[in-house]
Amino acid sequence: MDYKKIISETINIEGVSQEEIISSITLPKDLSLGDFALPCFKFAKALHKAPNMIAEDLAKLDYKGAFEKVEAVNGYLNFKVDKKVQAKQILDEVIEKGNEYGKSNIGAGKTICIDFSSVNIAKPFHMGHMLNTSIGSALYKIYKELGYNAIGINHLGDWGTQFGKLIVAYKKWGNKEDIEARGVRGLLDIYVKFHKEAEVHPELEDEARHWFKNIEDGNKEALDLFYWFKDITLKEVDKIYKRLDVTFDSYAGESFYNDKMDAVVEELEQKKLLTDSEGAKVVMFEDDKMPPCIIKKSDGATLYATRDLAAVFYRKKTYNFDKCLYVVAYQQNLHFKQWFKVVEMMGYDWAKDLYHVAHGMVSLENGALSTREGNVVFLEDVLNTCVEKAKKVIEEKNPNLENKDEVAEQVGVGAVIFAMLYNSRIKDITFSEDKVLSFEGETGPYVQYTYARCNSLLEKCGDVEGDIDFEGINNDAAAEVIRTISKYQDTLMEASERFEPYLVTRFVVELAQGFNKFYFDCNIANAEQGIKNARLLLTKAVKQVLQNALKLLGIQTPKKM
Ligand code: ARG
Repeated sequence: MDYKKIISETINIEGVSQEEIISSITLPKDLSLGDFALPCFKFAKALHKAPNMIAEDLAKLDYKGAFEKVEAVNGYLNFKVDKKVQAKQILDEVIEKGNEYGKSNIGAGKTICIDFSSVNIAKPFHMGHMLNTSIGSALYKIYKELGYNAIGINHLGDWGTQFGKLIVAYKKWGNKEDIEARGVRGLLDIYVKFHKEAEVHPELEDEARHWFKNIEDGNKEALDLFYWFKDITLKEVDKIYKRLDVTFDSYAGESFYNDKMDAVVEELEQKKLLTDSEGAKVVMFEDDKMPPCIIKKSDGATLYATRDLAAVFYRKKTYNFDKCLYVVAYQQNLHFKQWFKVVEMMGYDWAKDLYHVAHGMVSLENGALSTREGNVVFLEDVLNTCVEKAKKVIEEKNPNLENKDEVAEQVGVGAVIFAMLYNSRIKDITFSEDKVLSFEGETGPYVQYTYARCNSLLEKCGDVEGDIDFEGINNDAAAEVIRTISKYQDTLMEASERFEPYLVTRFVVELAQGFNKFYFDCNIANAEQGIKNARLLLTKAVKQVLQNALKLLGIQTPKKM
Protein backbone atom coordinates (compact mmCIF):
# COMPACT_ATOMS: atom_id res chain seq x y z
CA MET A 1 0.00 0.00 0.00
CA ASP A 2 1.36 3.37 -0.95
CA TYR A 3 0.24 5.48 1.98
CA LYS A 4 1.68 8.72 0.65
CA LYS A 5 -0.16 8.22 -2.59
CA ILE A 6 -3.44 7.59 -0.81
CA ILE A 7 -2.98 10.79 1.20
CA SER A 8 -2.13 12.84 -1.87
CA GLU A 9 -5.06 11.45 -3.84
CA THR A 10 -7.54 12.15 -1.07
CA ILE A 11 -6.49 15.69 -0.34
CA ASN A 12 -7.53 18.26 -2.90
CA ILE A 13 -6.24 21.80 -2.45
CA GLU A 14 -6.41 24.23 -5.29
CA GLY A 15 -3.00 25.22 -6.58
CA VAL A 16 -1.24 22.39 -4.72
CA SER A 17 -0.17 19.41 -6.82
CA GLN A 18 -0.19 15.80 -5.70
CA GLU A 19 3.60 15.75 -5.97
CA GLU A 20 3.84 18.71 -3.63
CA ILE A 21 1.67 16.96 -1.09
CA ILE A 22 3.75 13.79 -1.37
CA SER A 23 6.99 15.66 -0.89
CA SER A 24 5.57 17.53 2.12
CA ILE A 25 4.74 14.34 3.97
CA THR A 26 7.23 13.61 6.70
CA LEU A 27 7.93 10.70 8.99
CA PRO A 28 7.53 11.94 12.57
CA LYS A 29 10.52 11.22 14.80
CA ASP A 30 8.26 10.14 17.63
CA LEU A 31 6.32 7.04 16.61
CA SER A 32 3.57 7.75 19.13
CA LEU A 33 2.53 10.77 17.05
CA GLY A 34 1.83 8.63 14.04
CA ASP A 35 3.49 7.09 11.03
CA PHE A 36 3.12 9.97 8.60
CA ALA A 37 2.57 13.67 9.15
CA LEU A 38 1.46 16.40 6.82
CA PRO A 39 2.35 19.92 7.98
CA CYS A 40 -0.55 22.20 6.96
CA PHE A 41 1.22 25.56 7.41
CA LYS A 42 2.00 25.78 3.72
CA PHE A 43 -1.65 25.62 2.76
CA ALA A 44 -2.75 28.44 5.06
CA LYS A 45 -2.28 31.10 2.42
CA ALA A 46 -4.10 29.27 -0.36
CA LEU A 47 -7.04 28.40 1.88
CA HIS A 48 -7.13 31.56 4.03
CA LYS A 49 -7.40 29.46 7.15
CA ALA A 50 -5.36 28.68 10.20
CA PRO A 51 -3.17 25.57 9.77
CA ASN A 52 -4.87 23.67 12.54
CA MET A 53 -8.32 24.33 11.11
CA ILE A 54 -7.10 23.01 7.79
CA ALA A 55 -5.72 19.94 9.52
CA GLU A 56 -9.03 19.42 11.29
CA ASP A 57 -10.95 19.62 8.02
CA LEU A 58 -8.57 17.25 6.30
CA ALA A 59 -8.80 14.78 9.18
CA LYS A 60 -12.48 14.25 8.32
CA LEU A 61 -11.79 13.00 4.80
CA ASP A 62 -12.07 9.33 3.90
CA TYR A 63 -8.61 7.86 3.32
CA LYS A 64 -9.87 4.58 1.87
CA GLY A 65 -9.63 2.87 5.23
CA ALA A 66 -5.85 2.86 4.98
CA PHE A 67 -5.35 4.37 8.42
CA GLU A 68 -6.36 3.38 11.89
CA LYS A 69 -6.45 7.01 12.96
CA VAL A 70 -6.13 10.44 11.31
CA GLU A 71 -5.74 13.32 13.72
CA ALA A 72 -5.08 17.08 13.67
CA VAL A 73 -2.37 18.18 16.13
CA ASN A 74 -0.92 21.71 16.20
CA GLY A 75 -1.24 22.32 12.50
CA TYR A 76 -0.08 18.85 11.54
CA LEU A 77 -2.24 16.12 10.17
CA ASN A 78 -1.00 12.89 11.73
CA PHE A 79 -1.71 9.50 10.26
CA LYS A 80 -1.51 6.27 12.16
CA VAL A 81 -1.54 3.14 10.12
CA ASP A 82 -2.98 -0.18 11.13
CA LYS A 83 0.22 -1.93 12.21
CA LYS A 84 -0.80 -5.43 11.28
CA VAL A 85 -2.05 -4.43 7.85
CA GLN A 86 1.06 -2.38 7.21
CA ALA A 87 3.39 -5.12 8.41
CA LYS A 88 1.81 -7.64 6.09
CA GLN A 89 1.88 -5.29 3.18
CA ILE A 90 5.55 -4.26 3.58
CA LEU A 91 6.90 -7.70 4.35
CA ASP A 92 4.96 -9.29 1.49
CA GLU A 93 6.42 -6.72 -0.86
CA VAL A 94 9.99 -7.38 0.29
CA ILE A 95 9.61 -11.13 -0.09
CA GLU A 96 7.88 -10.85 -3.44
CA LYS A 97 10.44 -8.47 -4.92
CA GLY A 98 13.46 -10.14 -3.34
CA ASN A 99 16.69 -8.80 -4.83
CA GLU A 100 14.65 -6.21 -6.70
CA TYR A 101 13.26 -4.63 -3.54
CA GLY A 102 14.35 -0.98 -3.53
CA LYS A 103 14.78 -0.82 -7.29
CA SER A 104 12.97 1.95 -9.10
CA ASN A 105 12.74 3.49 -12.54
CA ILE A 106 12.65 7.06 -11.34
CA GLY A 107 15.92 7.66 -13.20
CA ALA A 108 14.82 6.12 -16.50
CA GLY A 109 16.08 8.11 -19.45
CA LYS A 110 18.53 10.14 -17.37
CA THR A 111 22.28 9.80 -17.65
CA ILE A 112 24.67 10.48 -14.80
CA CYS A 113 28.41 10.42 -15.38
CA ILE A 114 30.41 9.68 -12.26
CA ASP A 115 34.12 10.38 -12.35
CA PHE A 116 35.59 8.44 -9.45
CA SER A 117 38.64 6.57 -8.20
CA SER A 118 40.73 8.17 -10.97
CA VAL A 119 43.97 6.69 -9.75
CA ASN A 120 47.39 7.83 -10.88
CA ILE A 121 49.56 5.61 -12.99
CA ALA A 122 52.76 4.34 -11.38
CA LYS A 123 51.61 5.64 -8.00
CA PRO A 124 50.32 3.62 -5.10
CA PHE A 125 46.60 2.99 -4.60
CA HIS A 126 46.40 4.34 -1.08
CA MET A 127 43.75 4.99 1.54
CA GLY A 128 42.70 8.33 0.06
CA HIS A 129 41.72 6.57 -3.13
CA MET A 130 39.89 4.02 -1.05
CA LEU A 131 37.54 6.67 0.31
CA ASN A 132 37.08 8.10 -3.14
CA THR A 133 36.49 4.72 -4.74
CA SER A 134 34.02 3.59 -2.09
CA ILE A 135 31.93 6.75 -2.33
CA GLY A 136 31.96 6.83 -6.12
CA SER A 137 31.17 3.17 -6.55
CA ALA A 138 28.31 3.30 -4.04
CA LEU A 139 26.81 6.29 -5.85
CA TYR A 140 27.20 4.47 -9.14
CA LYS A 141 25.32 1.46 -7.81
CA ILE A 142 22.64 3.53 -6.10
CA TYR A 143 21.95 5.44 -9.32
CA LYS A 144 21.70 2.22 -11.26
CA GLU A 145 19.33 0.81 -8.66
CA LEU A 146 17.12 3.83 -9.20
CA GLY A 147 17.04 3.23 -12.94
CA TYR A 148 19.52 5.89 -14.05
CA ASN A 149 21.93 5.29 -16.85
CA ALA A 150 25.06 5.64 -14.71
CA ILE A 151 28.44 5.90 -16.43
CA GLY A 152 31.43 5.15 -14.22
CA ILE A 153 34.54 6.89 -15.43
CA ASN A 154 38.05 6.28 -14.16
CA HIS A 155 39.82 9.49 -15.23
CA LEU A 156 43.28 7.96 -14.93
CA GLY A 157 46.14 10.23 -14.00
CA ASP A 158 48.25 9.02 -16.89
CA TRP A 159 49.86 12.24 -18.04
CA GLY A 160 52.47 14.60 -16.68
CA THR A 161 56.15 15.20 -16.30
CA GLN A 162 56.46 12.46 -13.70
CA PHE A 163 56.49 9.95 -16.54
CA GLY A 164 59.64 11.56 -17.88
CA LYS A 165 61.20 11.18 -14.44
CA LEU A 166 60.14 7.59 -14.25
CA ILE A 167 61.72 6.78 -17.61
CA VAL A 168 65.00 8.37 -16.58
CA ALA A 169 64.92 6.52 -13.27
CA TYR A 170 64.11 3.23 -14.96
CA LYS A 171 66.87 3.59 -17.52
CA LYS A 172 69.40 4.39 -14.82
CA TRP A 173 68.45 2.16 -11.92
CA GLY A 174 65.54 0.03 -12.98
CA ASN A 175 65.45 -3.71 -13.20
CA LYS A 176 62.82 -5.27 -15.39
CA GLU A 177 62.35 -8.47 -13.36
CA ASP A 178 62.10 -6.58 -10.10
CA ILE A 179 59.45 -4.26 -11.46
CA GLU A 180 57.48 -7.08 -13.07
CA ALA A 181 57.54 -8.88 -9.75
CA ARG A 182 56.91 -5.95 -7.42
CA GLY A 183 54.82 -3.75 -9.69
CA VAL A 184 54.02 -0.26 -8.45
CA ARG A 185 56.21 -0.82 -5.40
CA GLY A 186 59.17 -1.29 -7.73
CA LEU A 187 58.23 1.81 -9.70
CA LEU A 188 57.79 3.80 -6.52
CA ASP A 189 61.28 2.86 -5.35
CA ILE A 190 62.97 4.24 -8.45
CA TYR A 191 60.71 7.30 -8.42
CA VAL A 192 61.77 8.09 -4.88
CA LYS A 193 65.39 7.51 -5.83
CA PHE A 194 64.97 9.98 -8.69
CA HIS A 195 63.91 12.74 -6.30
CA LYS A 196 66.79 12.04 -3.94
CA GLU A 197 69.36 12.01 -6.73
CA ALA A 198 67.91 15.09 -8.42
CA GLU A 199 68.62 17.13 -5.30
CA VAL A 200 72.33 16.57 -5.92
CA HIS A 201 72.17 16.28 -9.71
CA PRO A 202 69.61 18.82 -10.90
CA GLU A 203 70.45 17.97 -14.53
CA LEU A 204 68.33 14.87 -14.07
CA GLU A 205 65.30 17.16 -14.23
CA ASP A 206 66.32 18.25 -17.73
CA GLU A 207 66.69 14.65 -18.80
CA ALA A 208 63.24 13.96 -17.40
CA ARG A 209 61.78 16.85 -19.38
CA HIS A 210 63.46 15.52 -22.46
CA TRP A 211 61.93 12.06 -21.99
CA PHE A 212 58.53 13.49 -21.31
CA LYS A 213 58.79 15.42 -24.55
CA ASN A 214 59.67 12.12 -26.22
CA ILE A 215 56.42 10.63 -24.95
CA GLU A 216 54.53 13.63 -26.29
CA ASP A 217 56.25 13.33 -29.66
CA GLY A 218 55.41 9.65 -29.90
CA ASN A 219 58.98 8.32 -29.66
CA LYS A 220 58.67 4.53 -29.66
CA GLU A 221 61.00 3.73 -26.77
CA ALA A 222 59.34 6.37 -24.60
CA LEU A 223 55.83 5.23 -25.46
CA ASP A 224 56.62 1.56 -24.91
CA LEU A 225 57.84 2.32 -21.41
CA PHE A 226 54.89 4.60 -20.73
CA TYR A 227 52.39 1.88 -21.73
CA TRP A 228 54.30 -0.68 -19.75
CA PHE A 229 54.04 1.45 -16.58
CA LYS A 230 50.38 1.88 -17.27
CA ASP A 231 49.83 -1.80 -17.79
CA ILE A 232 51.57 -2.71 -14.56
CA THR A 233 49.52 -0.21 -12.59
CA LEU A 234 46.21 -1.20 -14.11
CA LYS A 235 46.80 -4.89 -13.44
CA GLU A 236 47.31 -4.06 -9.80
CA VAL A 237 44.36 -1.73 -9.41
CA ASP A 238 42.10 -4.17 -11.22
CA LYS A 239 42.84 -6.74 -8.55
CA ILE A 240 41.77 -4.22 -5.94
CA TYR A 241 38.63 -3.28 -7.85
CA LYS A 242 37.66 -6.94 -7.97
CA ARG A 243 38.02 -7.22 -4.21
CA LEU A 244 35.92 -4.10 -3.73
CA ASP A 245 33.33 -5.11 -6.35
CA VAL A 246 33.99 -1.94 -8.32
CA THR A 247 33.49 -1.56 -12.07
CA PHE A 248 33.85 1.21 -14.64
CA ASP A 249 32.40 1.91 -18.04
CA SER A 250 35.38 3.96 -19.17
CA TYR A 251 39.05 4.23 -18.34
CA ALA A 252 39.59 7.28 -20.53
CA GLY A 253 42.26 9.09 -18.55
CA GLU A 254 44.13 12.33 -18.94
CA SER A 255 46.23 11.16 -21.88
CA PHE A 256 43.06 10.32 -23.81
CA TYR A 257 42.50 14.05 -24.20
CA ASN A 258 45.88 14.88 -25.74
CA ASP A 259 44.35 15.44 -29.15
CA LYS A 260 41.15 17.00 -27.84
CA MET A 261 42.52 20.08 -26.12
CA ASP A 262 43.35 22.22 -29.13
CA ALA A 263 39.67 22.58 -29.94
CA VAL A 264 38.95 23.86 -26.44
CA VAL A 265 41.82 26.33 -26.51
CA GLU A 266 40.64 27.59 -29.89
CA GLU A 267 37.10 28.04 -28.68
CA LEU A 268 38.33 29.93 -25.62
CA GLU A 269 40.37 32.10 -27.92
CA GLN A 270 37.39 32.75 -30.21
CA LYS A 271 35.18 33.64 -27.30
CA LYS A 272 37.87 36.08 -26.17
CA LEU A 273 38.22 34.45 -22.81
CA LEU A 274 41.99 33.97 -22.91
CA THR A 275 44.40 36.51 -21.47
CA ASP A 276 48.16 36.50 -21.84
CA SER A 277 49.96 36.35 -18.54
CA GLU A 278 53.75 36.28 -18.79
CA GLY A 279 53.47 34.05 -21.83
CA ALA A 280 50.91 31.74 -20.29
CA LYS A 281 47.30 31.66 -21.43
CA VAL A 282 44.81 32.05 -18.63
CA VAL A 283 41.12 32.71 -18.05
CA MET A 284 40.55 35.58 -15.63
CA PHE A 285 37.48 35.75 -13.44
CA GLU A 286 35.34 38.77 -12.67
CA ASP A 287 35.42 37.85 -9.05
CA ASP A 288 39.11 38.56 -8.65
CA LYS A 289 39.28 36.68 -5.42
CA MET A 290 39.44 33.58 -7.55
CA PRO A 291 42.87 33.11 -9.12
CA PRO A 292 42.91 32.75 -12.92
CA CYS A 293 42.56 29.31 -14.47
CA ILE A 294 45.74 28.47 -16.36
CA ILE A 295 44.99 26.85 -19.71
CA LYS A 296 48.47 26.76 -21.23
CA LYS A 297 51.84 27.33 -19.64
CA SER A 298 54.37 29.67 -21.25
CA ASP A 299 56.15 26.64 -22.77
CA GLY A 300 52.88 25.59 -24.41
CA ALA A 301 52.23 22.71 -22.03
CA THR A 302 48.64 22.01 -21.13
CA LEU A 303 47.41 21.53 -17.59
CA TYR A 304 45.19 19.38 -15.46
CA ALA A 305 42.38 21.92 -15.94
CA THR A 306 42.81 21.94 -19.74
CA ARG A 307 42.33 18.18 -19.70
CA ASP A 308 39.27 18.42 -17.50
CA LEU A 309 37.78 20.95 -19.92
CA ALA A 310 38.47 18.73 -22.92
CA ALA A 311 37.05 15.78 -20.98
CA VAL A 312 33.79 17.45 -20.08
CA PHE A 313 33.06 18.40 -23.69
CA TYR A 314 33.86 14.87 -24.74
CA ARG A 315 31.52 13.52 -22.04
CA LYS A 316 28.72 15.87 -22.95
CA LYS A 317 29.00 14.87 -26.59
CA THR A 318 29.43 11.15 -25.94
CA TYR A 319 26.96 10.58 -23.12
CA ASN A 320 24.80 13.72 -23.18
CA PHE A 321 24.71 13.54 -19.39
CA ASP A 322 22.03 15.13 -17.24
CA LYS A 323 24.57 15.43 -14.48
CA CYS A 324 28.30 14.89 -14.35
CA LEU A 325 29.72 14.19 -10.89
CA TYR A 326 33.35 14.48 -9.87
CA VAL A 327 34.09 12.52 -6.75
CA VAL A 328 37.35 14.16 -5.68
CA ALA A 329 38.84 15.26 -2.35
CA TYR A 330 38.13 18.79 -1.12
CA GLN A 331 41.77 19.74 -1.68
CA GLN A 332 40.73 20.25 -5.27
CA ASN A 333 37.82 22.59 -4.47
CA LEU A 334 39.44 25.53 -6.22
CA HIS A 335 40.34 23.53 -9.32
CA PHE A 336 36.72 22.49 -9.87
CA LYS A 337 35.29 25.89 -9.02
CA GLN A 338 37.60 27.46 -11.56
CA TRP A 339 37.00 25.26 -14.53
CA PHE A 340 33.26 24.86 -13.89
CA LYS A 341 33.16 28.64 -14.09
CA VAL A 342 35.11 28.58 -17.35
CA VAL A 343 32.46 26.29 -18.87
CA GLU A 344 29.78 28.72 -17.72
CA MET A 345 31.67 31.68 -19.19
CA MET A 346 31.88 29.82 -22.49
CA GLY A 347 28.11 30.05 -22.54
CA TYR A 348 27.10 26.47 -21.78
CA ASP A 349 24.09 26.41 -19.51
CA TRP A 350 24.83 22.78 -18.62
CA ALA A 351 27.70 24.06 -16.49
CA LYS A 352 25.08 23.91 -13.73
CA ASP A 353 24.93 20.13 -14.17
CA LEU A 354 28.55 19.67 -13.06
CA TYR A 355 29.02 18.75 -9.43
CA HIS A 356 32.19 18.45 -7.42
CA VAL A 357 31.25 15.73 -4.95
CA ALA A 358 33.95 16.64 -2.47
CA HIS A 359 35.16 14.27 0.21
CA GLY A 360 37.53 14.39 3.15
CA MET A 361 40.96 12.94 3.79
CA VAL A 362 41.98 9.67 5.33
CA SER A 363 44.82 9.42 7.77
CA LEU A 364 46.03 6.32 9.51
CA GLU A 365 46.08 6.16 13.26
CA ASN A 366 49.82 5.63 13.11
CA GLY A 367 51.64 7.06 10.15
CA ALA A 368 52.16 10.12 7.97
CA LEU A 369 51.93 9.71 4.24
CA SER A 370 53.95 11.11 1.38
CA THR A 371 54.34 9.49 -2.01
CA ARG A 372 57.50 11.38 -2.84
CA GLU A 373 59.32 10.15 0.21
CA GLY A 374 58.02 6.68 -0.29
CA ASN A 375 56.45 6.25 3.13
CA VAL A 376 53.00 5.64 1.81
CA VAL A 377 50.72 2.91 3.02
CA PHE A 378 49.37 0.76 0.22
CA LEU A 379 45.67 0.00 0.37
CA GLU A 380 46.49 -3.58 -0.53
CA ASP A 381 48.44 -3.94 2.71
CA VAL A 382 45.65 -2.41 4.75
CA LEU A 383 43.12 -4.77 3.19
CA ASN A 384 45.36 -7.77 3.76
CA THR A 385 45.97 -6.90 7.40
CA CYS A 386 42.24 -6.48 7.96
CA VAL A 387 41.55 -9.82 6.33
CA GLU A 388 44.17 -11.51 8.51
CA LYS A 389 42.74 -9.93 11.64
CA ALA A 390 39.23 -10.97 10.63
CA LYS A 391 40.51 -14.50 10.16
CA LYS A 392 41.88 -14.55 13.69
CA VAL A 393 38.53 -13.50 15.11
CA ILE A 394 36.77 -16.17 13.08
CA GLU A 395 39.25 -18.80 14.29
CA GLU A 396 38.32 -17.83 17.84
CA LYS A 397 34.59 -17.47 17.45
CA ASN A 398 33.78 -20.14 14.94
CA PRO A 399 36.72 -22.53 14.47
CA ASN A 400 34.61 -25.05 12.54
CA LEU A 401 33.48 -22.66 9.86
CA GLU A 402 34.04 -24.26 6.48
CA ASN A 403 35.12 -21.41 4.20
CA LYS A 404 37.11 -19.36 6.71
CA ASP A 405 39.35 -17.70 4.13
CA GLU A 406 36.47 -16.60 1.97
CA VAL A 407 34.56 -15.20 4.94
CA ALA A 408 37.67 -13.49 6.31
CA GLU A 409 38.08 -11.74 2.96
CA GLN A 410 34.44 -10.64 2.98
CA VAL A 411 34.61 -9.40 6.55
CA GLY A 412 38.03 -7.75 6.34
CA VAL A 413 37.35 -5.92 3.10
CA GLY A 414 33.75 -5.16 4.08
CA ALA A 415 34.96 -3.57 7.32
CA VAL A 416 37.18 -1.13 5.45
CA ILE A 417 34.49 -0.16 2.94
CA PHE A 418 31.97 0.27 5.73
CA ALA A 419 34.32 2.62 7.59
CA MET A 420 34.74 4.71 4.45
CA LEU A 421 31.00 5.05 4.01
CA TYR A 422 29.96 5.54 7.59
CA ASN A 423 30.17 9.34 7.74
CA SER A 424 29.09 12.22 5.63
CA ARG A 425 31.63 12.27 2.81
CA ILE A 426 33.16 15.64 3.66
CA LYS A 427 34.44 14.41 7.02
CA ASP A 428 38.07 13.48 7.45
CA ILE A 429 38.66 9.94 8.62
CA THR A 430 41.23 8.61 11.03
CA PHE A 431 41.44 4.98 10.17
CA SER A 432 42.04 2.31 12.77
CA GLU A 433 42.10 -1.35 11.75
CA ASP A 434 41.04 -2.58 15.16
CA LYS A 435 38.11 -0.20 15.43
CA VAL A 436 36.66 -0.97 12.03
CA LEU A 437 36.96 -4.70 12.71
CA SER A 438 35.14 -4.65 16.02
CA PHE A 439 32.09 -6.91 16.08
CA GLU A 440 30.35 -4.43 18.33
CA GLY A 441 29.30 -0.91 17.59
CA GLU A 442 28.46 0.50 14.21
CA THR A 443 30.79 -1.50 12.02
CA GLY A 444 30.83 -3.69 8.95
CA PRO A 445 31.32 -6.91 10.93
CA TYR A 446 28.38 -5.97 13.16
CA VAL A 447 25.95 -5.65 10.26
CA GLN A 448 27.35 -8.71 8.51
CA TYR A 449 26.96 -10.62 11.75
CA THR A 450 23.33 -9.53 11.94
CA TYR A 451 22.81 -10.79 8.42
CA ALA A 452 24.38 -14.13 9.35
CA ARG A 453 22.16 -14.23 12.45
CA CYS A 454 19.04 -13.88 10.27
CA ASN A 455 20.33 -16.60 8.05
CA SER A 456 21.10 -19.04 10.87
CA LEU A 457 17.71 -18.42 12.41
CA LEU A 458 15.97 -19.22 9.17
CA GLU A 459 18.09 -22.31 8.69
CA LYS A 460 17.34 -23.50 12.19
CA CYS A 461 13.60 -22.80 12.19
CA GLY A 462 12.84 -23.57 8.59
CA ASP A 463 10.84 -21.36 6.28
CA VAL A 464 7.48 -19.76 7.03
CA GLU A 465 4.92 -22.56 6.78
CA GLY A 466 1.19 -22.36 7.29
CA ASP A 467 -0.83 -19.48 8.70
CA ILE A 468 0.86 -16.29 9.77
CA ASP A 469 -0.43 -14.61 12.90
CA PHE A 470 0.63 -10.99 12.57
CA GLU A 471 -0.01 -10.54 16.28
CA GLY A 472 3.50 -12.02 16.52
CA ILE A 473 4.96 -8.79 15.23
CA ASN A 474 2.43 -6.42 16.71
CA ASN A 475 4.93 -4.96 19.17
CA ASP A 476 7.19 -1.92 19.37
CA ALA A 477 10.43 -3.68 18.47
CA ALA A 478 8.94 -5.24 15.33
CA ALA A 479 7.14 -2.02 14.41
CA GLU A 480 10.43 -0.18 14.55
CA VAL A 481 12.03 -2.70 12.18
CA ILE A 482 9.14 -2.50 9.74
CA ARG A 483 9.19 1.25 9.82
CA THR A 484 12.90 1.20 9.02
CA ILE A 485 12.36 -1.16 6.10
CA SER A 486 9.66 1.15 4.77
CA LYS A 487 12.21 3.96 4.57
CA TYR A 488 14.58 2.05 2.31
CA GLN A 489 13.50 3.47 -1.02
CA ASP A 490 13.39 7.04 0.31
CA THR A 491 16.86 6.55 1.72
CA LEU A 492 18.23 5.55 -1.67
CA MET A 493 16.53 8.54 -3.22
CA GLU A 494 17.95 10.95 -0.68
CA ALA A 495 21.41 9.40 -0.96
CA SER A 496 21.32 9.94 -4.73
CA GLU A 497 20.06 13.52 -4.45
CA ARG A 498 22.62 14.53 -1.85
CA PHE A 499 25.41 12.32 -3.20
CA GLU A 500 25.68 10.80 0.26
CA PRO A 501 26.05 7.02 0.40
CA TYR A 502 26.49 7.22 4.17
CA LEU A 503 22.72 7.57 4.43
CA VAL A 504 22.49 4.00 3.18
CA THR A 505 25.16 2.87 5.65
CA ARG A 506 23.24 4.49 8.52
CA PHE A 507 20.08 2.85 7.26
CA VAL A 508 21.78 -0.53 7.41
CA VAL A 509 22.94 0.13 10.96
CA GLU A 510 19.45 1.20 12.03
CA LEU A 511 17.97 -1.92 10.49
CA ALA A 512 20.55 -4.20 12.11
CA GLN A 513 20.14 -2.59 15.51
CA GLY A 514 16.35 -2.72 15.23
CA PHE A 515 16.45 -6.36 14.27
CA ASN A 516 18.79 -7.29 17.10
CA LYS A 517 16.50 -5.61 19.60
CA PHE A 518 13.56 -7.52 18.15
CA TYR A 519 15.59 -10.74 18.28
CA PHE A 520 16.32 -10.31 21.99
CA ASP A 521 12.82 -9.07 22.85
CA CYS A 522 10.81 -11.67 21.00
CA ASN A 523 11.20 -15.36 21.22
CA ILE A 524 11.25 -16.77 17.75
CA ALA A 525 12.33 -20.39 17.75
CA ASN A 526 9.98 -21.55 20.51
CA ALA A 527 6.95 -19.43 19.73
CA GLU A 528 3.62 -20.94 18.73
CA GLN A 529 3.60 -21.67 14.97
CA GLY A 530 1.49 -18.73 13.70
CA ILE A 531 3.41 -16.24 15.82
CA LYS A 532 6.69 -17.86 14.88
CA ASN A 533 5.76 -17.56 11.22
CA ALA A 534 5.22 -13.81 11.51
CA ARG A 535 8.59 -13.43 13.20
CA LEU A 536 10.33 -15.57 10.63
CA LEU A 537 8.75 -13.52 7.88
CA LEU A 538 10.16 -10.39 9.46
CA THR A 539 13.57 -12.07 9.75
CA LYS A 540 13.47 -13.08 6.12
CA ALA A 541 12.62 -9.55 5.06
CA VAL A 542 15.39 -8.04 7.16
CA LYS A 543 17.87 -10.48 5.68
CA GLN A 544 16.78 -9.50 2.18
CA VAL A 545 16.91 -5.75 2.75
CA LEU A 546 20.29 -5.95 4.49
CA GLN A 547 21.61 -7.85 1.53
CA ASN A 548 20.19 -5.43 -1.03
CA ALA A 549 21.53 -2.38 0.78
CA LEU A 550 24.96 -3.83 1.52
CA LYS A 551 25.35 -4.84 -2.10
CA LEU A 552 25.00 -1.21 -3.12
CA LEU A 553 27.80 -0.31 -0.74
CA GLY A 554 30.00 -3.08 -2.15
CA ILE A 555 29.86 -5.12 1.06
CA GLN A 556 29.40 -8.89 0.86
CA THR A 557 27.06 -10.89 3.04
CA PRO A 558 28.55 -14.19 4.29
CA LYS A 559 25.86 -16.67 5.32
CA LYS A 560 27.84 -17.75 8.36
CA MET A 561 30.57 -16.02 10.30
N1 ARG B 1 43.97 11.68 -10.54
C1 ARG B 1 43.52 12.77 -9.72
C2 ARG B 1 44.13 12.66 -8.33
O1 ARG B 1 44.44 11.59 -7.87
C3 ARG B 1 42.04 12.83 -9.58
C4 ARG B 1 41.28 13.05 -10.86
C5 ARG B 1 39.88 13.44 -10.60
N2 ARG B 1 39.11 13.61 -11.78
C6 ARG B 1 39.15 14.65 -12.59
N3 ARG B 1 38.40 14.65 -13.65
N4 ARG B 1 39.92 15.68 -12.34
O2 ARG B 1 44.28 13.68 -7.68
